[in-house]
Amino acid sequence: MDFDTESAERAATRKVMAAPLSPRRVGKLRFQASAIANELLDSIFAESTPMHCMPTYAWPLPEQVASLHLGIPSEFIIPLNEMQRFLASGDVLAASNVTEFGRDSNGKMNGLTEFALDLIATKKAQPGDDVLSELVQAQHGPDGLTDRQILLTTLVLLMSASGSTAVRIETGIGLFSAHPEQYDAIIRDPRLIPSAVDEIMRMCNGIYDPTIRYARIDFKLRDSDIKEGDLVILDITSAHCDPRVFPEPLKFDITRRPNKQIGFGYGSTRCAGVALARLSLEAAFEALALRCAELPFLPPSPPNDRPLASW
Ligand code: HEM
Repeated sequence: MDFDTESAERAATRKVMAAPLSPRRVGKLRFQASAIANELLDSIFAESTPMHCMPTYAWPLPEQVASLHLGIPSEFIIPLNEMQRFLASGDVLAASNVTEFGRDSNGKMNGLTEFALDLIATKKAQPGDDVLSELVQAQHGPDGLTDRQILLTTLVLLMSASGSTAVRIETGIGLFSAHPEQYDAIIRDPRLIPSAVDEIMRMCNGIYDPTIRYARIDFKLRDSDIKEGDLVILDITSAHCDPRVFPEPLKFDITRRPNKQIGFGYGSTRCAGVALARLSLEAAFEALALRCAELPFLPPSPPNDRPLASW
């Protein structure tokens, strides 16, 4: 696939996703997201605290919010978790090739693709009021998505829906644990939570999600000559450390303004799920700020290999 074909495909799928993932549509879930956060906190309080945040709060919260909005039936959630663990393990590089409509080099379906095809078939048979149903129905609409586009977009949505948000919730809990005065600030004034989310996004190192591009033309970047076709890795973490844009970049400051963090990417490929991710992040910290004078979690282990969020 060349650049123009890829751009056209992306534009078509983004057009279909634009309304269901828009802030307006996602905003309708605010009450449910808050209820999910509060139910998880109820379960946490029923046990002896402090607890590890990832299995009890940071992971299940965005997972439940995203499943609700995307329309992932409950019986798909456990296998989806297994798939995500498989992806994180790196084995996927050996096993997955979705470019030929879900068949790997041996002509066999790999597990993840099979899972997505199963979900697509379920949505075709029983469409609901959810993102995946709209995606599947777009095959017959004016945008006429192909089977392949529907499959690839379903895969991207499934894989993006909860993991990245969970890591940011965990990062935020770590940062607030290490900076209790910043946590007190959101307790005193929860209206600071949206700007706190931007600061957590900035401080969360994206080292595990590198942004990869191929140069389309020869160009010079400072002292480096980049040739057409070269692979270029954009390091968002370094950008977030740039003192010309972020004064005192290593300081966690939830009142930082302006905060031009680019944790959701930039330009035509910017994350399509920003509103959904922000909804979960805001719900997570709002429920904590409203109910917990102290965080009910063990501080997450410091991510030593992450230069920014080394709380
Ligand atoms: C805090 C959580 C999240 C972070 C940090 C994040 C980050 C990103 C980034 C950096 C990109 C751009 C990658 C590139 O330019 O190569 C991206 C793309 C994307 N994200 Fe997210 N994301 C998050 C949550 C979500 C959620 C919840 C969804 C969906 C439900 C989602 C769906 C997507 C999709 C579909 C794309 C591809 C957009 C395209 O290629 O046109 N993301 N995300």
